[in-house]
Amino acid sequence: MVDLKGQYNEIKDVVNPSIQEVIETTAFINGPKVHDFQKHLEQYLEVKHVIPCANGTDALQIAMMGLGLKPGDEVITADFTFAATVEVIALLQLTPVLVDVNPDDFNINIDAIKKAITPKTKAIVPVHLFGQCANMEAIMEIAKAHNLFVIEDNAQAIGANYTYKDGTKVKAGTIGHVGATSFFPSKNLGCYGDGGAIFTNDDALAHTIRGIVNHGMYERYHHDVVGVNSRLDSIQAAVLDAKLPLLDAYNKRRIEAANKYDAAFKNHDKIETPYRYGTEDNHVFHQYTLKINGVDRDALVKHLNENDIPCGVYYPIPLHRQKAYLDERYNEADFEVTNQLVKEVISLPMHTELDNEQIEYITTTITNFING
Ligand SMILES: Cc1ncc(COP(=O)(O)O)c(C=O)c1O
Repeated sequence: MVDLKGQYNEIKDVVNPSIQEVIETTAFINGPKVHDFQKHLEQYLEVKHVIPCANGTDALQIAMMGLGLKPGDEVITADFTFAATVEVIALLQLTPVLVDVNPDDFNINIDAIKKAITPKTKAIVPVHLFGQCANMEAIMEIAKAHNLFVIEDNAQAIGANYTYKDGTKVKAGTIGHVGATSFFPSKNLGCYGDGGAIFTNDDALAHTIRGIVNHGMYERYHHDVVGVNSRLDSIQAAVLDAKLPLLDAYNKRRIEAANKYDAAFKNHDKIETPYRYGTEDNHVFHQYTLKINGVDRDALVKHLNENDIPCGVYYPIPLHRQKAYLDERYNEADFEVTNQLVKEVISLPMHTELDNEQIEYITTTITNFING
C-alpha cells in the first residue's frame, strides 16, 4: 500500500544527517529539533500553536483533556473511521455518540450531527477521512449555535486545504477549536516510528495542553493538572523537520496518482471513484478509495492479492457494531450509509512513489476482473 523504502532512498541525504545530529548532540528528549519542527509546522499550517506529542491517538486524547471535557459529556463522531477516534472518547469516560457519514465523501453527515445533539453534547469530532475535510463550515455553525467544541481529527489530511464557500482557503486541522494529527510512518507526513501533534489558535488552550503532555507540569515538579507523558522524540522530529518541506510535493504526487486512477476508471458503471469537492488541493489522498457495486468486493480483494497487488478495506466493520462500542441506544436504521460502505469500499495502493507502470497494472487488473 505504501513504499516507505522507495521514499527513504530518495531523501536519505537529507534525513540521515538530521537524525545523526540528534545522536551527536544526545538531545533525545525535547531537543532543538523538536522546537524547530514545531515552529516550521506552525508556519506551514499558519496556526498559532503546534504542540508535538507521541502519536495521533494521544493527540486526540490530550485535546479532549485540554478542553476540560468531563465524564458523561457526549461527544459526537463518525461511525466510519479508525477506532482511535472513539477509543479516546471512551477512555476518558466521555460518552461516544456515533453518527452516520455521507455516501459520497465518507465524512460525518451534517443532518446526523444535528439529530444527535442533546443537552449533554459537549463536542463534535469530525474526521477528515482519507485526506479530505468534512464540511467544516456547517460543523462550525452547529457548534456555535449549540456552544460545542470542535476537535478535528486530521490524522489523514495533513496539508489538505479546506475551501470556504467564499473561496478562502485554510489548512485542514486549523479550523476547529483544536486539531489533532498523526505522523505514523504511512501518513502523508510520516516519521520513522510514532509521532503526533495538536494544533490550536487558542493561547490559553495551548498553554494548558503544553502542561498536559508533560505530566501536568507548568513549572518543574509542580503538577497542577493530571497529565500524561506524551512527547515527540527528537529523532522523530529530525525526520519530520527534514520531510516537512517536501509535504506539498508529496501530496501533489498523491493527487497526480489519483488523477490517473480516476481517468482509468472513468465511465465504468460498477466503479465509483472518490468524490472531491472544490479545487484539487482539497483532497490529499491519504487513501484512494473506490466504491464497487454490482461485483463481489471481497472476490476483487482476493483477485488483487493473487496478482500481488496490495489493497485494503478501510473500514470493514462500522464502529457502532464493534464489541467495545456497542450501545443499546444505537439504531441500525441510523447507520444506513456506513453499513453499505463497509461492503463496497476498497482502497488501492497510494503513495509518493507510484509510477505509471504500476498504476496501469493495477487499473487493468481491476477493470479486467470487473468486466469478467
Ligand atoms: C483517523 C485517525 N485518527 C487517529 C489515528 C491515530 O493515530 P496514531 O496511530 O498515530 O495513534 C489514526 C491513525 O491511523 C487515524 O487514521
